[in-house]
Amino acid sequence: MKILGIETSCDETAAAIVEDGTKIMTNVVASSQEMHAKFGGIIPDKAAREQLKSMLPVIEEASQGQSFDAIAVTVGPGLVGSLLVGVETAKALAYSLKKPLIPVNHLIGHIYANWLDGKAPDFPAVVLIVSGGHTELVLMKNHGKFQWLGGTRDDAAGECFDKSARILNLGYPGGPAIEKAASEGNVHLPRPMINEKNFDFSFSGLKTAVKNTQGGASEIAYELQQAVAEVLVTKTLRAAEKFGAKSILLAGGVAANKRLREKFMLDCRSFKVYIPPIKLCTDNAAYISSAAYFNNKPQGWKKVDVDPSLDIT
Ligand code: KG4
Ligand code: ZN
Repeated sequence: MKILGIETSCDETAAAIVEDGTKIMTNVVASSQEMHAKFGGIIPDKAAREQLKSMLPVIEEASQGQSFDAIAVTVGPGLVGSLLVGVETAKALAYSLKKPLIPVNHLIGHIYANWLDGKAPDFPAVVLIVSGGHTELVLMKNHGKFQWLGGTRDDAAGECFDKSARILNLGYPGGPAIEKAASEGNVHLPRPMINEKNFDFSFSGLKTAVKNTQGGASEIAYELQQAVAEVLVTKTLRAAEKFGAKSILLAGGVAANKRLREKFMLDCRSFKVYIPPIKLCTDNAAYISSAAYFNNKPQGWKKVDVDPSLDIT
């Protein structure tokens, strides 16, 4: 079964066709990141206008020479204007082509990047979703069966990278900029909540610490990666042990970070660790198609609507 996926929750406009949830036929992503870099962040209204312009060309490119049996679209969480572009386009296509329409939660979508290179992680899995807007630790008992374990009480991990990069004048988006600048030095940053016996996180204090730390941008960037990675790995490992996980899954844009990937592979080596290929960590529509295949619940197009604050359960 081939599914056309559509994703517009943040500043990307993406479409992809995936077969049986695992085989990527096409995967097209247009980003307005360059435009946002000029302003040092996303301006929602400008993002949505760009997405309106690129939505159909991106779908056309992704569906060239391909057939598909259903349409999947991200309905939330995300920016309302951006989400509407994808959702209304998907509804129009489902209506005119008479194809089933499958609404997808963006956070659940991210997780399915782990199924896209032909692997099939065992359940129960402890999943860490780390993106620009979210830091969530969840227990995945099966496809579509999630138990939320904890999350950030303030800023998301990616948000901490983005805000810190701005403070350090390293540019936007912050995660890749921090990664590129990082070089070992002598500064120390805190590891927020690392010893607390819960599965929650807090990253806003870390950004403040970055502001108040004396030192070069490169060494602060290095230490920031270390601090974020250490907290994330420690709590994920603790959850995996507590819940008897058979695998640990990483997902979201921050999972593209090489330091974080290395640390997870090393520190969690007593578990089977899955991390998507770097290209599939950041927003794309291939994982939306995959999530729709494994959680195939079509809805009449009239009933499908955006939900900007949708959560994972
Ligand atoms: O998942 P994503 O593409 O969009 C959201 O759903 O938010 O994640 C974007 C986030 C941004 O905060 C960006 O700075 C971060 O992922 N990011 C990274 C890296 N690449 C992207 N953070 C650390 N290292 C990276 N290489
Ligand atoms: Zn995302």
